[in-house]
Amino acid sequence: MFQLQNLIRPHLLTLTPYATARDEYSGKEGIFLDANENPIGSTLDVSGATVNRYPDPYQLAIKEKLAPIKGVRPTQIFLGNGSDEVIDLLIRAFCEPGLDQILILPPTYGMYEVSATINNVEVQKVSLTADFQIDTGRVLDAVDFNTKIIWLCSPNNPSGNLLDRVAMLRIIESVDCLVVVDEAYSDFAPEASLLPELDAHPNLVVIQTFSKAWGLAGLRAGMAFAQEDLIGLLNKIKPPYNLNVLTQQHLLTALENAPEKDEMVRQILANRETLRAQLESLPIVEQVFASDSNQLLTHFTDSTAVFAYLLSHLIIVRDRSKVVRCENCLRITVGTAEENAQLIRLLNEFPVPEKSPISV
Ligand SMILES: Cc1ncc(COP(=O)(O)O)c(C=O)c1O
Repeated sequence: MFQLQNLIRPHLLTLTPYATARDEYSGKEGIFLDANENPIGSTLDVSGATVNRYPDPYQLAIKEKLAPIKGVRPTQIFLGNGSDEVIDLLIRAFCEPGLDQILILPPTYGMYEVSATINNVEVQKVSLTADFQIDTGRVLDAVDFNTKIIWLCSPNNPSGNLLDRVAMLRIIESVDCLVVVDEAYSDFAPEASLLPELDAHPNLVVIQTFSKAWGLAGLRAGMAFAQEDLIGLLNKIKPPYNLNVLTQQHLLTALENAPEKDEMVRQILANRETLRAQLESLPIVEQVFASDSNQLLTHFTDSTAVFAYLLSHLIIVRDRSKVVRCENCLRITVGTAEENAQLIRLLNEFPVPEKSPISV
């Protein structure tokens, strides 16, 4: 049976976390002589933000605003310096270097493996099926005592598709380890998030990001949602001030602008379908994979040549051709209508190789 206490790395159970000055006094009023800040001001004048003071280490104002949007309690939210920080913290919280493992389903987002490797944590791999879905039986067979986290990316990067919800829930309900569902692209997806499943599944962690649909990649802000004890553990091991004052200030404003995010998503999805149709009509394209996100994994007849050609015209796409199940594939992020039109114009001009005459 899943027991969070059994999964946490033992030395963290007794860790006394760093206590910030704001842990000791969290009031807003007062003469602050406790954090060795500059009391006079700052070398930067940044639109009303008090950058000479440390930020709220727990970002409570943002969590209060975000919780009703996500349908969770503020205490079920962790905010990271990008979801990449969340990924790293989860591995450091639960995986004993040189002993424990994470399980990933390639092709998938690269940072799960990179973070694990940096932390000297072994990576087990069970590839997605040819249509980029979960092979549930093989995943469950691969899980062993030292598997601490299974990573499911839905919609998946680089394939772009949602993973089957029933299969994800079956895995979550069958294992005693954590299952992290990375929903970085869920704002683009037609299906609801797994967030409503949190209360019923104590081993589920959902991660999302402000970097994609919200258009805030440069701010660096990611989210994790999970049961309170797990959020408490992440708070205990994170760097004290992981989200800076400006990020926090701008996030509060951005959260007021959710309708703008929804409108941009609508535009991106419309552009995606136009781009898909145009890509599919090209003789150099073999297949455009189904996508529930803002990326189109596209199988070319010769992806290496197309990649180099696009690059030479300063159109930069992601070469995924060396990745399992993605032979001859480029991952194309949906751009603006003008950017997509330029891409298609160039691809139309790509010299199609002559078919060699059949020799007799
Ligand atoms: C699936 C997935 N998860 C997480 C991230 C990282 O996002 P962030 O900018 O929040 O660190 C990315 C970025 O491309 C991603 O594709």
